[in-house]
Amino acid sequence: MARGDALVLFGATGDLARKKLIPALYQLERRGRLDLPVVGVALSDLDDDGFRAYVRGVAETTVDRPEDDVLDRLGARLALVAGNYADASTFEALAARLRSSGVKRPVFYLAIPPSMFPPVVEGLARVGLTEAGRVVVEKPFGRDLASAVQLNEVLHANFGERAIFRIDHYLGKEPVEDLLVFRFANAFLDPIWNRNYVSSVQITMAEAFGVEGRGSFYDGVGTIRDVLQNHLLQVVSILAMEPPVSSDADALRDEKVKVLRAMRPLDCSSMIRGQYSGYRDEPGVAAGSETETFVAARLEIDSWRWSGTPFFVRAGKGLATTALEAVVELKEPPRMLFAGAGIPAPHANLLRFRLGPRSGVRLSVQAKRPGQGLTAETVDLDVDFDTALGHVQEAYERLLDDALEGNPTRFAREDGVEAAWRVVQPALEDPGDVHTYPRGSWGPAEADGILAGHHWHAPGTED
Ligand code: BG6
Repeated sequence: MARGDALVLFGATGDLARKKLIPALYQLERRGRLDLPVVGVALSDLDDDGFRAYVRGVAETTVDRPEDDVLDRLGARLALVAGNYADASTFEALAARLRSSGVKRPVFYLAIPPSMFPPVVEGLARVGLTEAGRVVVEKPFGRDLASAVQLNEVLHANFGERAIFRIDHYLGKEPVEDLLVFRFANAFLDPIWNRNYVSSVQITMAEAFGVEGRGSFYDGVGTIRDVLQNHLLQVVSILAMEPPVSSDADALRDEKVKVLRAMRPLDCSSMIRGQYSGYRDEPGVAAGSETETFVAARLEIDSWRWSGTPFFVRAGKGLATTALEAVVELKEPPRMLFAGAGIPAPHANLLRFRLGPRSGVRLSVQAKRPGQGLTAETVDLDVDFDTALGHVQEAYERLLDDALEGNPTRFAREDGVEAAWRVVQPALEDPGDVHTYPRGSWGPAEADGILAGHHWHAPGTED
């Protein structure tokens, strides 16, 4: 697929553009990867010059030590088509602008509310812009299985699957991608990576902050739709997948989809929802809201490799810290040789992947405790990737570049998105009660109830 020759950014003055896309554009410009015009589309009073000044202002506040010449180069690429997404004239103006600059392969980025996806796609189709174009759609991709299927139909009516780029920005995170490299580029893991040696896998996505001004969006969504259906199931899929036959986009995605297909649908018997106290007082949140800001779930994968090994996931806002971690707990050795009366049994080995805010890996192993006796003590083999390997790129920077290039590897495929909705659909239909938890905690105590003899490993601790 040839590289796109213009980026058209719907929602150019919105929240996502301000926080993620403009900083990403700046970085691409800095690295010499932005080789095309960028046309914003927004309901706005700005003209081209006003938009350039706006983008410059955003970049100056969101980028660390912005360089003047990079800002100038970025500014020179920008133009704005102002208008309403419901008006045919907006799309006519856009088409005229792209054609007058000789654009043949535009990339349309929809950084807009999902309810606007259908009118925008149809508006583009009416002026003939979908034929050679491709489209990047932001999450949430639907709000349940039926709406995701419907959205796929709208997109497919105008774009081939290869021209649709569904964003899950976790797929663009370098530390998440490192899970794939760590698993399949290190032969020592291969023999133990299965139900015979792994007693459980656990993923924690903790955020110390609350909904932070996004109350009205979040209250209609909740943690299951916001991060479990997409980000967390992607991480589980990478940890659980079979080795792909190659690193090409479909080989990787085929294996991830198989994991989701083998996953038992989630229902309220294996899931606990929580809500931080004070959530109902947040601006935009309904007074008696039952929306969850925390979820913990036990996932079962009925595959030859994983049958019987639980995958625990938990995610929440208003928690004790901000961290993303995956912990693989191995089974205990068949006999505890180095324990005894008054001497605690050695801990099981833990392989802990730190995925954010810093990334690294830590393997907790047993070593001989110094002294006369023959007893074991836990020590850590630990590497901080940020120190060892250096700076990582931001997810959006990589994803934008991929979409422009036409590389679908780090994007969700139609069958993958639908398979993930199939897993969470029963939980959406019968979510059970929501339990209040104090801010700054690890969520409601009820979350321990799904662990069946295991325990949660708090990120950043030895436990
Ligand atoms: C987004 C969710 O997709 O991911 C947010 O909508 C969440 O609620 C965010 O805070 C977390 O992403 P990151 O990259 O900041 O960890």
